[in-house]
Amino acid sequence: EQDPVKLMKQEVGRAAAARVQSGTIVGLGTGSTTAYAIEFLGDRIKKGELKDIKGIPTSFQASVLAKQYGIPLTTLDEVDRIDIAIDGADEVDPQHNLIKGGGAAHTREKIVDALAEQFIVVVDSSKIVDRLGSTFPVPVEVIPLAMTPVMRAIEKLGGKPELRMGVKKAGPVITDQGNMVIDVKFDSIDNPGELEKTLNNIPGVLENGLFVGVTDLVLVGEVVDGKPVIR
Ligand code: A5P
Repeated sequence: EQDPVKLMKQEVGRAAAARVQSGTIVGLGTGSTTAYAIEFLGDRIKKGELKDIKGIPTSFQASVLAKQYGIPLTTLDEVDRIDIAIDGADEVDPQHNLIKGGGAAHTREKIVDALAEQFIVVVDSSKIVDRLGSTFPVPVEVIPLAMTPVMRAIEKLGGKPELRMGVKKAGPVITDQGNMVIDVKFDSIDNPGELEKTLNNIPGVLENGLFVGVTDLVLVGEVVDGKPVIR
């Protein structure tokens, strides 16, 4: 018996990878769902179905997976566009605004996903919410020396900040850029676009995980009668 969440993630990953065309520059997202998209992109390259694509990774994890599955990589300095980006999310609201950064990769993800001509979000149905912030805190990447003043400023905004700690590491999570992540719980996020700007305006904040107005398409994986379907 297959784990239904894994099935959903695989199916959306496959569906997103199927949308990539030869000769394109592809933003490669972070997380367990996008990992399947990267794997399926690699399969299509091996089969000769997909030619001449180049990936731009959004994290160390994405670049390791891309190498493992045979996807050639490039950098933002070497391209003049990103045709398509595929990335996961922690929450998706009815306007297709997102909370990202559960994997502490939201800063590079936002750079790549926002640049892409087409940004496709891949999620299982558990990520769909009526209102952002209902289940997940907003991750904020902060330059280490500004940690305390940033936390105070966040409290003044009405948020409850918590420094993200490592699981198999003593001390804080350190991002791919060498910074820390503060997870912020808000009672209610009425205007995600406004909050995104307000948080980024605090000196010492590099980027937060609210993605407003950047999504072009959301692929949602669901399991119906034991079978995965895409909506
Ligand atoms: C990484 O920082 C996040 O933005 C991920 O995209 C997000 O956590 C989704 O990951 P999963 O697909 O593993 O849920």
